[in-house]
Order: sequence, then C-alpha cells, then structure tokens
Amino acid sequence: MNDKELIDRVVENIKKSKKYKGIYFRTIERVVGDLVLKNAQTNRLRQGFGLVMEKKAKNLLHQIWGAFYASQPDFDKVFLKLSQMYADFDSNLIGIEKLKELILPILHLQSSVKERTSILDEFYQKIFKVTGIPGSIIDYACGLNPLTYLWMGSQDIKYQAYDIDQKEVGFLNSVLKLLSIKNAQVGVGDVLCDDFKYADVVFLLKLLPCLEHQKKDSGLELIKKLPCKYLVVSFPIKSLGGKNVGMAEFYRNNFKKMVENEGCQTTEILFDSELVFVIEK
Ligand SMILES: C[S@@+](CC[C@H](N)C(=O)[O-])C[C@H]1O[C@@H](n2cnc3c(N)ncnc32)[C@H](O)[C@@H]1O
Repeated sequence: MNDKELIDRVVENIKKSKKYKGIYFRTIERVVGDLVLKNAQTNRLRQGFGLVMEKKAKNLLHQIWGAFYASQPDFDKVFLKLSQMYADFDSNLIGIEKLKELILPILHLQSSVKERTSILDEFYQKIFKVTGIPGSIIDYACGLNPLTYLWMGSQDIKYQAYDIDQKEVGFLNSVLKLLSIKNAQVGVGDVLCDDFKYADVVFLLKLLPCLEHQKKDSGLELIKKLPCKYLVVSFPIKSLGGKNVGMAEFYRNNFKKMVENEGCQTTEILFDSELVFVIEK
C-alpha cells in the first residue's frame, strides 16, 4: 500500500467512527495526511502503522475539537428544548434581554465560550472601542461563539463564522434562524486549508494555542495572511480544569515575541477570563 492508499484508508475509518464522523472531511484529510507524511520515513514499515496513524489522528482531533466539550451535546435535543421555550413567547414581543436569557444555558455547553459568559456585557464594547463598530466580522474556529451575536450591540453587523464541526454549524444556523437573527451565518471551514474572505474585523478567539498543535507557527502565518482591518486574537487565562496557572503572562509573552518583528499596532485588553489583543493591520 502506498502513502496515498494508506491515507485514504485511515481517513475512511475516521469518517465512519461514531465520535469523529461529524468533523469536516478536509480537516480529517489534512490531519491524517500531515501525520502520515511526518512519520512515514521512520515508521512506515512497522506492523500496524495504519492503526497507529489512526489513533494519533483521533487523539489530535480530540485535542483540537472534542476537548472543549465536557461531553458531546445532543444538538437536536438542545434545539428542540430551545424551540419549545421560544414558542412560549410571542415572537413579536420578545426582547433582546429575554433572547439572551434563552441562549445563555447553551453557551455553557462549550468551555471556551462558557468562560466568556461572565464578561460578555463588556467584551464587545471594549473591543469595538478600539476597532469602531465594524460593518463585517469573520469569526474563524467559532465554536458556539456565534450565539453571542446579540451581545455585539448592533444587528447591522454582517457576521460570518466558520468551524470544522458540521453538526455544530447546522445547529447554530437553526438557532439563528429560529431567533430571526438575519445578519449572522455559520459555515463549515478549516483555517488551515480553506480560502479567506475580507472582513473589517476578524476574530481568532482562543484559537492560536489550538493551531500550534496542528501546524507549528501557523498562528503568525494566519495573522499575516488574513485580509482585514483589525484582527482580534485572544487566549484563555485559565486551564481547561479551571486553574489560573500564570497563563495570561505566558500567552502575553509568547504573543509579543511572535509579533515583535511585524511592526503592527496592538492593543491589549485583559478581561477577568480572557486575554485579548486587537491588531491593526
Ligand atoms: C478553543 S475552541 C475556540 C472556540 C471559539 N473561538 C471561542 O473562543 O469561543 C477551538 C475551536 O476551534 C475549532 N477548530 C480547531 N481547529 C480548527 C481549524 N483548523 N479550522 C477551523 N476551526 C478549528 C474547534 O472545532 C473548536 O470549536
């Protein structure tokens, strides 16, 4: 079996697996392809090489996607519950504050956005104080963050988001439609292999540490490549276990070192649960 056949076989196995079948196929192909090429020279002839690659690929997919959910949500059930609660209101009379109340428990399903819930009231206000209210935003590797659209303070912002989780993307679009949030849309996309469109502001929220596991130095490459006026890059300041272990300082130092030769203007905003840098391009 040559490398191409081996990659195809591992990709097919992962696409059929219960846990990972909902991941964007281009991400699975990219992850498996990179792993096989990296390991082929030294380990190719070892027995069970395909199985080892499959295990490694699944581990990486868990690390970059699955680890942010305590357990995989049943999005159909969550949507049904939300629809029932929403149906109890007169949709012409329901105000933004009530909609936010309905959305908040859903934000608690994913750790990255859950940590943001306590700062949401000031999060976009402080960011837009630097960027101005943008006409358009692209949110890459969005997780459940599209559901924070109502906290942005303007429903005129054209908001587009992407993630590698197809089920999550379908769920988010259903919720946005149900709540008649017309200017926000979510699509399936991988920042490491898809094309980039222009937006006034691009969000890379808590993404850079996750990208380093996938491709070394890809964070800086992305920052340089993305067409926009402002980039909003953020970092978690607590570990997934909830501990504060000097992460703000660690990520601040790393980020500053990373962009020091780029000559770009950056503004730091330190929130209680997130470290944000706004980069003017
Ligand atoms: C740490 S979470 C951040 C979620 C969101 N940006 C936030 O801060 O709430 C990482 C997210 O990145 C997505 N992801 C990981 N690698 C990706 C890639 N190469 N392209 C697009 N999305 C990716 C995962 O599916 C997951 O939803």
